[in-house]
Amino acid sequence: MMNRELSMEFVRVTEAAAIASARGVGRGDKNGIDQLAVDAMRKMFDTVNISGTVVIGEGEMDEAPMLYIGEHVGAGGPEVDIAVDPVEGTNLVAKGQPGAIAVIAIAPKGCLLHAPDMYMDKIAVGPRAKGCINIDDPVSANLERVAKALNRGVGDLTVVALDRPRHRKIIEEVRAAGARIRLISDGDVDPIINAGIEGTGIHMYIGRGGAPEGVLAAAGLKCLGGDMQARLCPENEEQEERCHKMGISDVKQILTIDDLVKGDDVMFTASGITNCDLLHGVNFFGNGARTHTISMRYATGTVRFVDAVHTFDRSNINIKL
Ligand code: FBP
Repeated sequence: MMNRELSMEFVRVTEAAAIASARGVGRGDKNGIDQLAVDAMRKMFDTVNISGTVVIGEGEMDEAPMLYIGEHVGAGGPEVDIAVDPVEGTNLVAKGQPGAIAVIAIAPKGCLLHAPDMYMDKIAVGPRAKGCINIDDPVSANLERVAKALNRGVGDLTVVALDRPRHRKIIEEVRAAGARIRLISDGDVDPIINAGIEGTGIHMYIGRGGAPEGVLAAAGLKCLGGDMQARLCPENEEQEERCHKMGISDVKQILTIDDLVKGDDVMFTASGITNCDLLHGVNFFGNGARTHTISMRYATGTVRFVDAVHTFDRSNINIKL
């Protein structure tokens, strides 16, 4: 079992990435924002007592100088696999829009699906609707079962999907079934986590997004007791080959939440970069910054919200509420 104290160390990692990338809010420079977060995250990881291998990261070794797939991070300790997205929603940060987070998931070696950088179909719900979804069923059938589990009508459900032409049919089906739908421009990890938490007003996530983001979201949703199904969507032979190389023999298979994240020892941490439904974005105030983080451990089911004030200059401490 991973030492529980690590969960606080991982909070430091996403806090650092969030503070660094929040400097770029609204500046329009997607790559620059990502680089700031990657540098900060990489640096903080090296202070943590783990022998980590990045299994979901910034790209293949030849594509990314840091946090590439296969890179070793940490100061030494238990062998763990790490999934990172230093800025989930780079467009959102570049445009100063809500919904961007810095996010990581950590599990013992071999427990996180080594999802290649391609699309994945996803459907996700919270704990009360566990067992009610089937990615191959019509949207209406899924909505009816979820509504029943939540003891409400389909018209009282809100579904989130990425606003993309490829989702035209799904969107029509949700509307025809009578459910409400929230179309987002980017960032599908945040709404999947929200689906796992009562009171967020989000009851289901559906649609095609990034496969790496799918594994990250599954880690968080698993900690919350929620449910998810997914299927990889390789678009050509090369992508199919990549799936095989990463140990996925049948690319068409339905991946359950326990296929995406195996076992009972996963940790998930996300810090708000810009405001989200669940987390505040980073606030700067002259001599410091305030961050807001969710930290979860599957082993115990503990969910912590960490509201932190970071002081940049100790000679001028100025904590504000
Ligand atoms: P980035 O943070 O890498 O820009 O990804 C954001 C994101 O919106 C994901 O949350 C989502 O899964 C994916 O991109 C959707 O891809 P696309 O923009 O190609 O539809």
